[in-house]
Amino acid sequence: MKDSQFVNYLIAIIGGLFGFFILMVILANFITPEEKTQDVMVSEAIEARIKPAGSVTVGAPVEVKAAAFSPADAYQASCFACHGTGAAGAPKVGDKAAWKARIAQGKSTLYKHAIGGFKGMPPKGGSSLSDDEIKAVTDYMVSKSK
Ligand code: HEC
Repeated sequence: MKDSQFVNYLIAIIGGLFGFFILMVILANFITPEEKTQDVMVSEAIEARIKPAGSVTVGAPVEVKAAAFSPADAYQASCFACHGTGAAGAPKVGDKAAWKARIAQGKSTLYKHAIGGFKGMPPKGGSSLSDDEIKAVTDYMVSKSK
């Protein structure tokens, strides 16, 4: 009777351990695929983060020079300091009253003054833009001030 009771206990314990083992395997199966996809996602995220950085550094310097000239950007870089603020008595871009009489002079005069300088307006605004670029920026400023 005592022996059989011991055997019963043993079977119960082994059975319990076995059940626990099965449970752990099931749990592990639940967790593992998720961890794998997370790993994949992490490495993909790292690759994605590395890739553009590499391609941008390689491509950017060439692209910037090759890219179409942007009057808006050139204005920001070379003209805004005066024409965005009215510094040195410059006619502010967007100030229609300040530009009306200037625009009335005609484009060729505006170009001439923008390229060659005019009173407080330094030649080309002190920039190293080409004549054609200055004309394009002047057109841009005029279009914003009509
Ligand atoms: C250092 C300040 C300064 C910068 C930078 C500057 N300007 Fe001017 N600009 C002036 C001033 C001041 C006037 C007004 C001159 C006057 O009529 O007394 C003026 C006037 C002008 C006029 C009107 C000229 C006219 O006949 O009335 C144009 C066009 C012009 N600027 C274009 C530009 C362009 C394009 C740039 C950038 C490439 C630029 N300016 C950068 C100060 C500046």
